[in-house]
Amino acid sequence: MSTFAQKLIAWQQQYGRHDLPWQQTRDPYAIWVSEIMLQQTQVSAVIGYYGRFMARFPTVQALAQASVDDVLQHWSGLGYYSRARNLHHAARTIVETFNGDFPHDITTLQTLKGIGRSTAAAIAVFAFDRHETILDGNVKRVLARLYGIEGWPGLPQIEKQLWTLAESLLPNTHLPSYVQGLMDFGATLCTRSRPACVRCPMQSECRAWQTQQVAQLPTPKPRKALPEKSVMMLMVMAGHRVLLEKRPSQGIWGGLWSFPEAPVNAIATEFAQSVLDLTTEPQETLPVLWHSFTHFKLAITPQPLTVLSKPNGLPPQYQWIAIEEAIEAAIPTPVRTLLKTLMKH
Ligand code: ADE
Repeated sequence: MSTFAQKLIAWQQQYGRHDLPWQQTRDPYAIWVSEIMLQQTQVSAVIGYYGRFMARFPTVQALAQASVDDVLQHWSGLGYYSRARNLHHAARTIVETFNGDFPHDITTLQTLKGIGRSTAAAIAVFAFDRHETILDGNVKRVLARLYGIEGWPGLPQIEKQLWTLAESLLPNTHLPSYVQGLMDFGATLCTRSRPACVRCPMQSECRAWQTQQVAQLPTPKPRKALPEKSVMMLMVMAGHRVLLEKRPSQGIWGGLWSFPEAPVNAIATEFAQSVLDLTTEPQETLPVLWHSFTHFKLAITPQPLTVLSKPNGLPPQYQWIAIEEAIEAAIPTPVRTLLKTLMKH
């Protein structure tokens, strides 16, 4: 066994995490859900969502039978909503194509929506004790430091090198401890900004430590400033109800409920009249709210409006919803923030 694997397994046994909710099971469904939630999301943010999700959708059949709206509602606030849509899609594939049985091998696992190579490997190891390696962002960082690999790990050539290296380090036994060790070591010790090198068991063989390159590795992504977009959100109130619009399933916040949007420079009341056929009166504006996506930043100008005319029939993607109920619905985080502000007024 490589010294790295030996040390990592020993480290994991002593310092790693052993009682996360998804570690008490070999059920591939429970493991899969956890791995999808944990993509780009920290353990602390996932735990509550995970418990509620598993209580509502305890099996792959339950998830496959649910509506996508129900699934999105249980994902509401976690972000990266395509993960929830893909999860639902893949659950249906597993039930319809694989008879409800999870594939064991990473090639077949990767045919399911939302499962890439690293996630497939995590499921195969934790559920089926397979001999596979993961390579997520944390593991890339650990290996880049340990082996002094320069170049942004997202570059295909660097990534290929890291996969080969990761595979070469795999032990023949104790795969689940080893892989959990990789995750925990990267998440808790070899962290991005303040790694605990002084208590690192790998210090003596860490190339980055030897050459004082820890802070420089892994090489960051060459960054362009994120483009900024702006939008006005119309917070139309009729008594205790707000008007929400169900967004198209494709695109940002697909399938979630949100406020109707207008260009930032629109005159809100005129827009409401011409597009929604509602006569409204503007209320005091709220401060601009920023929300970051992977590819851009969005400046949201909230514009509260109260309805004067009795609302006529609106197209079915619009609904009047009581504020308390809206907060519980499948809505994006900034919309929840704004609804909570409304509730306080
Ligand atoms: N990140 C991704 N998968 C994880 C897991 N199984 N445990 C802890 N953190 C993780």
